[in-house]
Amino acid sequence: MKKILFVSSEVQPLIKTGGLADVAGSLPIALAELGQDVRVILPKYQSLKLDSEIEYRCTLRIDNRDVNIFQTYLPNSLVIALLVDSPDYFSKAGNPYTDEYGNAWADNADRFALFCRIAVEVSQNRAYLDWKADVVHCNDWQTGLVPALLTLEPQRPATVFTIHNMAYQGNFPQETFYRLNLPGQLWSMNALEYHGMLSFLKGGLATADHITTVSPTYALEVQTAEYGYGLEGLLQHRHHELNGIINGIDTDEWNPETDVRIAQTFSVENLDQKNINKTTLQQRSNLPENTNIPVIGLISRLVDQKGIDLVIECLEDLVTYPIQFILLGSGDKGFEHRLKNLSYLFPDKIAITIGYNEDLAHLIEAGSDIFLMPSRFEPCGLNQMYSQRYGTLPIVRKTGGLADTVIDAMPETIANKTASGFVFDEAATGAMLETIKRALLLYDNQKIWKQLQKNAMLKDFSWRQSAEQYLNLYNHL
Ligand code: ADP
Ligand code: GLC
Repeated sequence: MKKILFVSSEVQPLIKTGGLADVAGSLPIALAELGQDVRVILPKYQSLKLDSEIEYRCTLRIDNRDVNIFQTYLPNSLVIALLVDSPDYFSKAGNPYTDEYGNAWADNADRFALFCRIAVEVSQNRAYLDWKADVVHCNDWQTGLVPALLTLEPQRPATVFTIHNMAYQGNFPQETFYRLNLPGQLWSMNALEYHGMLSFLKGGLATADHITTVSPTYALEVQTAEYGYGLEGLLQHRHHELNGIINGIDTDEWNPETDVRIAQTFSVENLDQKNINKTTLQQRSNLPENTNIPVIGLISRLVDQKGIDLVIECLEDLVTYPIQFILLGSGDKGFEHRLKNLSYLFPDKIAITIGYNEDLAHLIEAGSDIFLMPSRFEPCGLNQMYSQRYGTLPIVRKTGGLADTVIDAMPETIANKTASGFVFDEAATGAMLETIKRALLLYDNQKIWKQLQKNAMLKDFSWRQSAEQYLNLYNHL
């Protein structure tokens, strides 16, 4: 049995801005189910959703401040979640990373450096918890100092650093390095220095014993200039210690047979019941109720990564077809405005909800026929997997985890019953529109469509296999 400390800046259902939280909330539980002793550590943000009591564990003095550690459990599990409490850093309203206007908090370097230092203390059994980690599993830039700091310890756990998104790097000016009082040896090209700046992400990539990304395709993509943000050379150099392990999904939370957030549960056996979700979704979206018209859903952070510009550019063309388009998301204010305006122009075809809404996200997955995900890059992506589970066929761009989890409907894959969605190559409106048309044509052939839905719904997206791959990796370190 390994003792694993899983370090993440967000963990579902306590706090979530994106897929990292889904992973940090379910992979540790899957590892515990494989008999491992896993603890998760995250900051104690003001906006944590805490259902049960939290327990005070200890106070550590770090960097001239007293930091309290509390503990709770991940729901329905024995996985301990350790909460790092430093009120002036983490007790701010709203998002873990940004203010209400989307600007990064000015003290992010200090906040996450402190978080990393505490994770190191906990992993090294210096936090009065009587527990020393064998493996520390870090995720994204907010945790990048952990493997770097651990390289300075004579006796240390093995370290894994998982890239969920290379687009966020945690880069700060050199002065920040000195202000944070980081050990001088770490100001090096082989550690935290990146073109004269302090880079949290580089720290993780340069110093962890092993690097993973959240899909095999993204593991190859990050080694190219297009996706590597200047770190591709380092990743090419470390390619023997780099691999991709596809994310699973929480198959209890995203289960059309038991989902309490949708209007009507359904399964492969009674797929017709899915229509009740479709009409409920149409009602909720103020669109005409009609089960024959294909509904295209989209749920996303509204940022460049997700190809939202492509969607906006082609919506006017798209609504000339008999479809309805339902989007839920928030992010870039320009995207939000343009989408809203389009919905005012085509009120009986386009419904846009700006905001974050988990209940509506489930209903969109259950009630749509098609799910659109034209990402410019997508390390893994979760919604295309949720969609397949709900018999909602995804249309995706062939990148990252989208390429690894959706099988394009072509004559051969339709015949051998593996087709589970639609895939296009080029990040361009033309390619996307062509593929949507291809999907709409197949939608008219309900016999084939139902078969594709079944293929999709029967795929295994559970965490089990991926958790086993992580465990294998830990055992080999
Ligand atoms: P990313 O982490 O890049 O945002 P993923 O596909 O991995 O992309 O995960 C996104 C997660 O966030 C999914 O669980 C998705 O349902 C959820 N999500 C994104 N936007 C919203 C929203 N506006 N309301 C509810 N859930 C959302
Ligand atoms: C990131 C990626 C997304 C991935 C998620 C969880 O936010 O953008 O593709 O699914 O992390 O790994």
